[in-house]
Amino acid sequence: MLQNKATSVVTIERFIIEEERQVPDATGELSGVLYDIALAAKMIANKVRMAGLADILGSHGEENVQGEVQQKLDVFANETIIKAMDHSGRLCGMASEEEAEIIPIPDKFRCGKYCLMFDPLDGSSNIDVNVPVGTIFSIVAKTSNGTNATLEDFLQPGARQVAAGYIIYGSSTMLVYTTGRGVHGFTLDPSIGEFLLSHPDIRMPAAGRYLSVNDSYEQQWDAPVKSLMRQLRGLEGGRKPLSVRYVGSLVADVHRNLFGGGIFCYPANTKSPKGKLRLLYEANPLAFLVEQAGGGAIDGKKRIMDVVPTELHQRVPLYIGSKDAVDLASRVLAGKSELVGT
Ligand code: AHG
Ligand code: MN
Ligand code: MN
Repeated sequence: MLQNKATSVVTIERFIIEEERQVPDATGELSGVLYDIALAAKMIANKVRMAGLADILGSHGEENVQGEVQQKLDVFANETIIKAMDHSGRLCGMASEEEAEIIPIPDKFRCGKYCLMFDPLDGSSNIDVNVPVGTIFSIVAKTSNGTNATLEDFLQPGARQVAAGYIIYGSSTMLVYTTGRGVHGFTLDPSIGEFLLSHPDIRMPAAGRYLSVNDSYEQQWDAPVKSLMRQLRGLEGGRKPLSVRYVGSLVADVHRNLFGGGIFCYPANTKSPKGKLRLLYEANPLAFLVEQAGGGAIDGKKRIMDVVPTELHQRVPLYIGSKDAVDLASRVLAGKSELVGT
């Protein structure tokens, strides 16, 4: 018998307001930044959905600061976020994966107290093959004097984030974020152009089902990493083997593990001795969100959110997911596991 559960429609705007009301000295500025991100997400989702038709496929041809060929959608997403956010009077600066330097707020606009860091399009190598891609964002409060952000404002450890989240452009478009009061998921209803609350209070399963790793780099890993992967695959140490799922879009891999449980690993390797993923706008925001959902995130030696950044585009090794698997990674990578090196 169908339960007649009253399900009230909660838009992201309403949810943000209700969250703001629970914070005594809230000014509404952070709420405004989150609204603006939701708006930018709708515009990017619209383009991603049409990517195959609107001649937006394929590379833009130029290289970005990471030395990666920019896909047209990277450029569109980057410009969409900057234009949606630069005039709101809530930010004092931005930093993007696609921009070498920090992005100042134009003089004609007022500055606010928040700094936004973002990966406008994550997994962009997957655009042309219709595999989910995403946007990742992280927000910190300005700490330096003066009105405009300085580099120092962006080089804060992840533990100082006030909000973080991602949008995944997949079979549906979802926005998942945290302000430190749990993790909440909103699904875009394209027929009304609204993000509706679909996954309140997301909790990551304590034990994992999935291992997400690109083991084509196996020969370039050190012995503790090799031992960790063998243990996660159940080849040694007697653990139940995890199913391997690797999309190649960080957002898609983390999103699946957030619901199914598991661990995503991007170890350092001889090609990328500091790892490939960027601390400020990939590892930190996802670490904040996963910890809020009950999981963990380390760089192999320490908690990701305790790493003190020294550069805007700094890379880190990343092990993120269910507490059980991340705790194992922490032990094995610190050489505390009797199986290392076998
Ligand atoms: P981006 O498209 O923003 O550069 O990110 C790509 C990243 C991340 O999404 C993914 O987990 C990783 O690159 C995949 O790297 P490999 O192809 O080396 O596995
Ligand atoms: Mn990325
Ligand atoms: Mn990117």
